[in-house]
Amino acid sequence: MFFSFEGIDGSGKTTQASQLAETLRQRGYEVVEVREPGGTEVGERIRKLLLDPESQVGARAELLLFSAARAQLVDEVIRPALDRGAIVIADRFYDSATAYQGGGRQLADAVWMRALHGFATDRLAPARTYLIDVDLETAEDRRGARARADRMETTGRSFYGRVRDAYHDLAKAEPDRVALLDGTLDPQ
Ligand code: TYD
Repeated sequence: MFFSFEGIDGSGKTTQASQLAETLRQRGYEVVEVREPGGTEVGERIRKLLLDPESQVGARAELLLFSAARAQLVDEVIRPALDRGAIVIADRFYDSATAYQGGGRQLADAVWMRALHGFATDRLAPARTYLIDVDLETAEDRRGARARADRMETTGRSFYGRVRDAYHDLAKAEPDRVALLDGTLDPQ
């Protein structure tokens, strides 16, 4: 079974993903946690490139690099784990690209984006995606508490507004897969 967590930076998705993993482990399941971009040697190198504030990465290259990291993660980690019956919990998956590069960067239409995701993941889709939703101010406050902003986090409020809108569109378009959760509530 494959689950993913989504949300803007500062939404608290990472906390929720690791709490679900912990709960399932306590119940005896094998759980594999992955994060995007990253999770493989190639993916971690791509992550450094993409998140380094010194990197000059154009929008199209950005989308393709995120997709490349995802393709590697699917082949090396996610598929093998699912094949042996483990539960996989992903901290971000292709919905991040739809929201950040599609919505935030206004890069590509939804139909083309879906085709790209199908290619990059070899048609693997999460059974359920938890979208942790918080308003932009709350997310900014939470991000502000962190040490140093990465390259994606230096984009500004109008960018994050478009990302959040794109996430909301996804939840409306795929209500059976994407569950919208209020991220301003108590984490528990
Ligand atoms: P994030 O997952 O939030 O990691 P951390 O919690 O360690 O900061 O950072 C990844 C950043 O990359 C985040 O700003 C979202 C962005 N991103 C995209 O723009 N597109 C993608 O396809 C993915 C996976 C991430």
